[in-house]
Amino acid sequence: MTADPFAGGLHLARRFFGSLSPAAPPASDDSWALGHLGPGEAELWRRMSNPDRRHAVAVARAVVADLGPATGREVVAAALLHDVGKVVSGLGTFRRVGATLVWEGLERARPDRQRAARWSAADRAGLRRLGQYRRHPELGAELLAAAAAHELTVAWAREHHRQPDRWTVPPEVGAVLKACDDD
Ligand SMILES: [Fe+2]
Ligand SMILES: [Fe+2]
Repeated sequence: MTADPFAGGLHLARRFFGSLSPAAPPASDDSWALGHLGPGEAELWRRMSNPDRRHAVAVARAVVADLGPATGREVVAAALLHDVGKVVSGLGTFRRVGATLVWEGLERARPDRQRAARWSAADRAGLRRLGQYRRHPELGAELLAAAAAHELTVAWAREHHRQPDRWTVPPEVGAVLKACDDD
């Protein structure tokens, strides 16, 4: 998190406009990413949207630049797949912005810890997608566990929006993953 709210806004704006481009990541980025993923993880990678994969490669490359060439495969995979749970709701860029605003407003007005779990099981598709989007960390962790991902990769998907005192990943690794992600 940046201390300067204006810089944060600029960053989010850049992320938002960047995510409007439907282009796939360059083939060299895609094969670089796949080189760090097991077969089950690679299958999940291919289900991610183009903007999400472009973002994930940028995060992972920043992590490797920070930690050095000996960065563990599971750490690179954590950077690449931290948001994979977003494939479940299938919301595009504009609806995600709406979903984020809905959740922020709701949680301020009427906090309810069970709401996301309830909504993600709802019959109404709109409600269900909102709940699934909110639960993308848990859903991502489930997908990764089922894909035989490394324990750290699974844990980071679950924990990447949590405060550091609730991480189970090594704090120094979590700190780099978080700093390189910043969304
Ligand atoms: Fe996320
Ligand atoms: Fe991210």
